[in-house]
Amino acid sequence: MNHAHPGIWEFSDRVAYLQQRIDALPHDGLLTALEAGCGSVSHLRFPDQAHLTGIDISQEQLTRNTMLHEKICADIHAHAFPEARFDLIMCWNVMEHLNDPIQVLRNFVRWLKPGGLIIIGTPNPYSAKGFVTKFTPHFVHVLLYRYVLGKKDAGQPGTEPFPTYLRWSLSPRSLKLFSRDHGLEIDTLTTYRTPWEANIRNPLCRAAWKGYTSLLAVFSLNQLDVHHSETLAVLRKPD
Ligand SMILES: C[S@@+](CC[C@H](N)C(=O)[O-])C[C@H]1O[C@@H](n2cnc3c(N)ncnc32)[C@H](O)[C@@H]1O
Repeated sequence: MNHAHPGIWEFSDRVAYLQQRIDALPHDGLLTALEAGCGSVSHLRFPDQAHLTGIDISQEQLTRNTMLHEKICADIHAHAFPEARFDLIMCWNVMEHLNDPIQVLRNFVRWLKPGGLIIIGTPNPYSAKGFVTKFTPHFVHVLLYRYVLGKKDAGQPGTEPFPTYLRWSLSPRSLKLFSRDHGLEIDTLTTYRTPWEANIRNPLCRAAWKGYTSLLAVFSLNQLDVHHSETLAVLRKPD
């Protein structure tokens, strides 16, 4: 798949899609996997013969994570894993929080074994939600989490929302160019829509969002995937 995913892609279907790739991944007896920016939970299942390393800048998040065999509290921009250490690198909802995602992608390529997979889930900066996320300050994100989503401890250390940069270099086009320049094969590179817009209950907010997305579509001459707020990339390092 190398294009915008049609319709709404449910979370469980996305997980199933990725799980197939993980289950088919060849390895030498022990699957070595890295969750980069692991947070407190992994959304995928790993085989019994897997060694799961998690790296996160937040000790609070690492402490809550019970799925890892090895925990490293460090910044993924700067940490130095040995070359070709992992069969699989997962980075889910983390890239948008990085000051220099391209530097981190270069690290991933170095840390990955030949034949290994990098899985990236990130917001699409060129979408209606992407623009709002990118251009509103962090305190607005904290207020939204606290008063719209009802998460009272939002913004406390180790708690969402995390400061967000959402660099333009995370666009699907930029990820495609990065893959080409670093010799990665593209298994999947797609934008997609999630069901979150259906959860806007307040009729005024719903109307405002509809107006904003329609205007954006018109002003971009329908060149933007306005509702396709997320990107999934599955990249393979050739043998
Ligand atoms: C939105 S959470 C996602 C967690 C998990 N991957 C998930 O999907 O549930 C983002 C995570 O990235 C971590 N993070 C942010 N910047 C980081 C960095 N430079 N190095 C390592 N981890 C980082 C945060 O501490 C947080 O746990």
